[in-house]
Parts: sequence; structure tokens; C-alpha cells
Amino acid sequence: MGNVILIGFMGCGKSTVGLRLSYRLRRTLIDTDKEIEKEERRAISDIFAADGEAYFRDRETAIIQKLINSANNQIISVGGGLPVREKNRALLHKLGQVFYLQAEAATIYERVKDDTTRPLLQVEEPLKRIETLIRERDPYYRAAADVVITVDGKSFSQILDEIEEQVNAGEGNVATEG
Ligand code: S3P
Repeated sequence: MGNVILIGFMGCGKSTVGLRLSYRLRRTLIDTDKEIEKEERRAISDIFAADGEAYFRDRETAIIQKLINSANNQIISVGGGLPVREKNRALLHKLGQVFYLQAEAATIYERVKDDTTRPLLQVEEPLKRIETLIRERDPYYRAAADVVITVDGKSFSQILDEIEEQVNAGEGNVATEG
């Protein structure tokens, strides 16, 4: 498998970090949200509106299950809610080394406040929603993660350096074990 998996709350930087990491490590990037949109031929906000969140969550589990059979040495960026399901956390663990990009609610809010593509944040008080969801989900993210990377106040190149160091260390472990 040997994949690098990026998890964390909406707006923590998974997509940007994933893209830059894919250039740096010369690995292809898979984004579970994009895979679902491709298969469904509609945007996530349309999926939520027409079929509801539970339907979307089942699609997420199906994508991760599919990747177990097909993804090797790739960068996989996963939707913010995917690690909440216990089954998904077990699947992520099988897929590779899991990095939690941990960000404070205020950082997230600044990044997503004008974004209309995330249905869960289209509410009256998005900052409160972000704080509540982060409080609920942080334990799940930590349970799923092999490595926690705090991102507040860091440049992308700093974050990439930290991830790369851990990827190299992880590969070193595999080599000495095998
Ligand atoms: C969600 C996060 C989104 C997307 C959907 C639900 C969540 O992905 O999967 O809107 O529950 O946190 P990003 O984390 O890539 O924004």
C-alpha cells in the first residue's frame, strides 16, 4: 500500500498540501470528494441536497474500500467527515500512513467563511458550527492518525517538510522491519 493519507477538518489545507506533496514526492493525488463527484457526476452540495448526508457518507466508505484494492504509493486526501466512522478509520489505517492536519477553529473560519461549496457550513453562525464540529471530531481524527501536524501559523513548505520527514522515517521503519 504505502499511501500517504491526509485527514482533518474542512479548510485545514488537505487539498493544497496534497497537491504540493504530490509534486514533491512525485506521487499521484487522489481526493475522495473529487472521486465521489466524478462517479456521481454532480457536486457534493447537490448530493447533500438531493440524497442527504447519510447517502454521501456511504459513498465515502465505498470509495475508501475501493482504494484498498487499487491505491499504492499515492497521496490520498479525504473529506473532513470521513474519519468519523469507525469502519473508515480502520480502512484508512490499512491504506497507509495517516496525517492529521490539525487547525484551530479561527484558522478554519478565516479560510472557509466565503465558501458556499460546503453544505455543513451553510448556517447562520458558521464559526460556532466549526467549533462544535471540531470538538466532536478531534478525538476521531486523533484516533485515525499516525502523525498529528499542527498547521496554525505555519507556511505550506514548513508543513510539507514535517510530513516528508515522517514519510521518510515511516519508510525507514518498513525497510528495517522487512
Ligand atoms: C465534509 C467535508 C468536505 C466534504 C463534505 C463534508 C465534512 O470535504 O466531504 O462537504 O463533513 O467535514 P473537505 O474536508 O475536503 O472540505
